[in-house]
Amino acid sequence: MKIMVVGGGGREHAIIKKLKENKDIEKIYALPGNGGIAADAECVAISATDIDGICEWAKSNPVDYAVVAPDDPLVLGAVDRLTAMGIPCFGPEAKAAIIEGSKVFSKNLMKKYGIPTAEYEVFSDMEKALAYLETAPIPTVIKADGLALGKGVIIAMTRDEAKDAVKSMMQDKIFGASGNNIVIEEFLTGPEVSVLSFTDGKTVVPMISSMDHKRALDNDEGLNTGGMGTVAPNPYYTKAVAKECMEKIFLPTINAMNAEGRTFKGCLYFGLMITEKGPKVIEYNCRFGDPETQVVLPLLESDLLTVMKATTDGTLAETEVKFSDKHACCVIMASKGYPQKYDKGFAIDIPEDVKDSVYVAGAVLDGTTLKTSGGRVLGVTATGACLDCAINGAYEKVKKVSFDNAFYRNDIGKKAKEAK
Ligand code: AMP
Ligand code: GLY
Repeated sequence: MKIMVVGGGGREHAIIKKLKENKDIEKIYALPGNGGIAADAECVAISATDIDGICEWAKSNPVDYAVVAPDDPLVLGAVDRLTAMGIPCFGPEAKAAIIEGSKVFSKNLMKKYGIPTAEYEVFSDMEKALAYLETAPIPTVIKADGLALGKGVIIAMTRDEAKDAVKSMMQDKIFGASGNNIVIEEFLTGPEVSVLSFTDGKTVVPMISSMDHKRALDNDEGLNTGGMGTVAPNPYYTKAVAKECMEKIFLPTINAMNAEGRTFKGCLYFGLMITEKGPKVIEYNCRFGDPETQVVLPLLESDLLTVMKATTDGTLAETEVKFSDKHACCVIMASKGYPQKYDKGFAIDIPEDVKDSVYVAGAVLDGTTLKTSGGRVLGVTATGACLDCAINGAYEKVKKVSFDNAFYRNDIGKKAKEAK
């Protein structure tokens, strides 16, 4: 069997490594992949957002199954196009990927179907948004409607900050057309939980829960990033919370999407906040999270391809999805300066004994030397019988990996430990 994976980050590396455990898979192509993924798949230099290029390539390179991992190609309709060519795909069609592609859509969906989320107002007129902020409760949260590389959210602690955020999105267009419409929403507090789920549009199977660490520096200081590390499971996701989420959030969301004629298949990611009034949805993603995938998939005991195909075929109810009862921790090693300016081109040393635990996100091959090329360079994952074992294991491996200007957080998993 030949498989195509669209994308080129740490998440895709984790997906590819897991897929490779299936011995029926003879070949995996990554479009575009990266210098580290090249050790596990054949990389094809076509951008994940070049849907025409991907389809053109697939015409002359037949594959049996395609996995579209990142948000942009999903929102751009990669799954629709590949499916029309007769290639079965993992991932939602564009009309369902809108659940991440438009925050206005997802907020209105939750309101219409009574799914718990922060109170909000939508604005397409800047003056009206500014007038609303004169009396809105502070702190408040300003969100650009469209995709903004995970950066379209500004938490404003004062009224002036909130107004500046609105102006930067609607007037200065810092997120481009994504800021044409904005959502202003209630500021919620409580621990955050990421729950990725497999769904075929009928059945929803939550994967093991996880906790992301979005700020760049220890103790949740510094700027927001794409994620500096993760642990799984998340201690705040208790059995009682899981039950409530299934009844009030997961199933209602799947049913709501069906009722709207937008059946969702693939991985639906629920970004949750466990508030005093119960779990509420902070965001939906139409795909696997990064770096959540790097702790969730190493704990999956079932065959990933079988489960993925079941989401496409609508047979998830009859398919076993089993997770280990171990813990996992992933520490992201980034380039110093990330998420702002950073230098790149430094040689990366990954000793043989930790190779299996490393998921490469931003690196290129220069001859046979792997060199840094991105802000988040790689993630190092360890699993263990306890949370501490996983955390210690991950940091032991991190110490063995090296490149100039590397930096990482030293407290991944600390908050999860304190929750106990
Ligand atoms: P998002 O890009 O939607 O994941 O938002 C980024 C981060 O902003 C989330 O992980 C939360 O930490 C925070 N956030 C988003 N919405 C809210 C909210 N309504 N109240 C408090 N924090 C929020
Ligand atoms: N780790 C958050 C995300 O993938 O959006």
